[in-house]
Amino acid sequence: MLELFPDSARIEEGELTVGGLRASALAGRFGTPLVVYCEQTLRARAREIREAVPEALVLFGSKAFPNVAILRLFAEERIGADVSTLGELAFARAAGIEGERLVFHGNAKSDDELRTAAEAGATVALDAEDEPGRAAAAGTRRVLVRVTLGVEADTHEAIQTGHHGSKFGLPPDSALRTIAAARSHGLDVAGLHIHVGSQLADIAAHQETIEQLAAFAARCRDELGWTPEVVDIGGGFAVRHVEDEPIAPLGELARAVTDAVELVWDSRALPRPSLVLEPGRALVGHAGVTLYRVRSVKRLADVTWVAVDGGMSDNPRPQLYGARYTALSATRADEPATENVSIAGLHCESGDVLIDDVLLPDPRSGDLLAVPATGAYALAMSSNYNATPRPAAVLVADTEARLIRRRETIDDLLAFEYQE
Ligand code: LLP
Repeated sequence: MLELFPDSARIEEGELTVGGLRASALAGRFGTPLVVYCEQTLRARAREIREAVPEALVLFGSKAFPNVAILRLFAEERIGADVSTLGELAFARAAGIEGERLVFHGNAKSDDELRTAAEAGATVALDAEDEPGRAAAAGTRRVLVRVTLGVEADTHEAIQTGHHGSKFGLPPDSALRTIAAARSHGLDVAGLHIHVGSQLADIAAHQETIEQLAAFAARCRDELGWTPEVVDIGGGFAVRHVEDEPIAPLGELARAVTDAVELVWDSRALPRPSLVLEPGRALVGHAGVTLYRVRSVKRLADVTWVAVDGGMSDNPRPQLYGARYTALSATRADEPATENVSIAGLHCESGDVLIDDVLLPDPRSGDLLAVPATGAYALAMSSNYNATPRPAAVLVADTEARLIRRRETIDDLLAFEYQE
């Protein structure tokens, strides 16, 4: 089970430690729920992908967890950011990421977003036929064109993006017109962008997309006299959330995708493009652990409910994608886990279940539970459901903990309200 936790995680005297700090000490100091990020893991994943594909530009898919401290840490590792809103762009700029390492995406960009992205010197991924004119008017210089090639990735349908009829990207004929329009507006059309889906355990969908993308690139050469200098293959590399989920390491997946582009491009005698990769989940997913406090234990005939002090407001992935997680009793990690329980959240609906089935050692209220692989798309998709303040996040390394996102308070929530 420890292999699902961050690289620095250990069990010491029966207790989980991350970054050399005891789970109970972190929970005591910062409260729960708490998302603990391990700096060693973040840097290890960053270096793993940079070393596997030294020739590629790596951008962090910042939607997985937009956080200034983590963006800054990645910037130190020469990783930029893929952003898709003014907020994500502001976070990336606050982290000091420069225009050459920023790509702005979105299927529904506002003029304000296009202007702000242009001011930041970001490359814009065009995603609509009328966007070239709007981008040119906003001062954009460099663009990619996002293409959708009708590939169904083997993942939850809500996170497939490259299929026919997707709201993202442009089918080939439309993409061709968009490239021509962008060039006639004087934009520097650097290349093509795809993103085929998320939580992809292998590169089958990437492989198929890359073959079709090369065919499209050849069509661009023949019909427009233009070939892409840049190919941005998006993100999508999966992480393991539970033990029975075999997934290849990030570096291996990234290298395989990059090799596929080179091979397929060579076979069509197209000039090799420079590559961009946009991993989100694979950079931060494993680095994060969520600590919850058990509030009640209810032993019913068919199920034992262990209810914690968080739930779908800090991690809606079980409801949205049927995502599976596991949990460890953080302060009794060396006791035999013999009781099969379900972990419930505190929210006022029956579907608020974090984990259907997990073995714990004799759960009691007051226990501390640790849910691994919650660094991506959990706090990032959190809400204030039931007027619940969102949790804090801390970054730990070498027995030091630093608050990288403070816990919301009830006063924060009241401040949004109309008051007499
Ligand atoms: N690039 C683009 C253009 C994207 O749309 C995404 C993710 C990424 C990169 C990063 O993908 P990743 O490497 O993280 O798979 N909320 C969902 C995931 C949505 C992904 C959206 N786009 C989840 O929790 O599974």
